[in-house]
Amino acid sequence: MRVLMIAPPGAGKGTQGERIANHYGVRHISTGDLLRDQVARRTDLGRRVSAYVDNGELVPDDVVLEIVREALQEASQTETRGYVLDGIPRTIQQARDLYLVAREFDMTADVALHLRVSEAEIVRRLLARASAQRRADDTEQVIRRRLELYTGVTAPILDWYAERGILVTIDGEGPAQHVTKKIFEAVDRLQREQHDVIDVRNPLEMKSLESAFDGTPSDDNRIDSWAVPVVAATLGAS
Ligand code: AP5
Repeated sequence: MRVLMIAPPGAGKGTQGERIANHYGVRHISTGDLLRDQVARRTDLGRRVSAYVDNGELVPDDVVLEIVREALQEASQTETRGYVLDGIPRTIQQARDLYLVAREFDMTADVALHLRVSEAEIVRRLLARASAQRRADDTEQVIRRRLELYTGVTAPILDWYAERGILVTIDGEGPAQHVTKKIFEAVDRLQREQHDVIDVRNPLEMKSLESAFDGTPSDDNRIDSWAVPVVAATLGAS
């Protein structure tokens, strides 16, 4: 099982990501946790990224991709060769590069999981966490900035995964265990439907990643195609 989690801050990526990983016996790879670990250990990379993380800004794509490549390589050595990637992709460039890296390991994603949670609930959850734990980016001002980046930069990527037929949207509000149950049901259903597709494939151009969002063609001429299980495109939001 290979899952990408794309959701706003505080939507439950970490909470649910861990549960999904345990349930399917795969690695939980959280870019936020990996970056915070580098910051806490004051590594060179940690020093380079700490201001971004503390202020809720996006760490440069190449830095994030490098740490994710390493984590994917480790996951490729495991028996299940699966993962839950929590917190990436956050930009169009990351979506594109992540696909290419995952393909190198023959580990492209089966599911892009989107959790939908209202802004009011997000702010409530993150301020509640701020009073219990200390995370530098859990201040109201930085939470607003994280939300702004999610809405403006990250959310548009969802269309691309919908086009690939692997997007599952879940209502992330309500008790965490109810959300978990809905996720497992939806992921299992998508897997069954993908399994039913024998070999109906649509080619998609890699450059559609850019053109899907701003009409700007890719700055290189790489055009790749990959399998799209067309039946999955019929899956609506859960
Ligand atoms: P990251 O760690 O990914 O932070 P985030 O996206 O802001 O998300 P959070 O960790 O705050 O929330 P979550 O969705 O994981 O929810 P959680 O389960 O924790 O990234 C941090 C920073 O690193 C970024 O701002 C950026 O600087 C950098 N970064 C990371 N990835 C990057 C990338 N790809 N590119 C560039 N930069 C990157 O839950 C939140 C709270 O809500 C918890 O207290 C939890 O207990 C509670 N909760 C969870 N579910 C429920 C529920 N159902 N009901 C009530 N409470 C709940």
